[in-house]
Amino acid sequence: MPETPAGLERLRRFIAEATRLATPEGLAQSPRLEAALAELVSHDDWLPPACAQPHPQYYQQYLLHCDPLERFCVVSFVWGPGQSTPVHDHEVWGYVGMLRGAEIDQRYARLPDGRVAPRGEPATLRPGQVARLSPQEGDIHRVSNAHADRVSISVHMYGGNIGAVARHVYDPATGQAKPFVSGYSSAQLPNLWDRSEAVRAALR
Ligand code: FE2
Repeated sequence: MPETPAGLERLRRFIAEATRLATPEGLAQSPRLEAALAELVSHDDWLPPACAQPHPQYYQQYLLHCDPLERFCVVSFVWGPGQSTPVHDHEVWGYVGMLRGAEIDQRYARLPDGRVAPRGEPATLRPGQVARLSPQEGDIHRVSNAHADRVSISVHMYGGNIGAVARHVYDPATGQAKPFVSGYSSAQLPNLWDRSEAVRAALR
């Protein structure tokens, strides 16, 4: 696959749609936005290989796009075999769209005594499916690669620049919350704007 797959048009279209739905104040979750993400992750032909690389030890978060006003961001989440997150929250809304492989999403509830406990059965997310995260409805969870022998990739969207949001990880035994901010693995963003090849072809 070339470094800038032709399918990058899909990501460009998705980001344009999200930007269209945003107001100067921000971007709200909506069925239209969720459907646009579902459409994006129902095709696995657009993610640049550089944003699909696993790390032997840590799951990777490659920034694909951050809205210039930080109203939303789009990240590829690359799971190495068997990797998982700590129990954590987000402080902003989110969508998780499964692109490749599968992941397991276990939600947690905060108990009156301050501890956290699994809430409901773990859900398995498969390619084309989208899970919704809302801090108002309770968004504490732990996510894992469903596969012990291969890479899985999901595309996350957040209602802010997640690389600038202070949130929490939770000790599953005591419920003690520890503040953290997640960084990005990518040194370089995919180049959405080089459309010269298509324009050149039209000139021929
Ligand atoms: Fe999460």
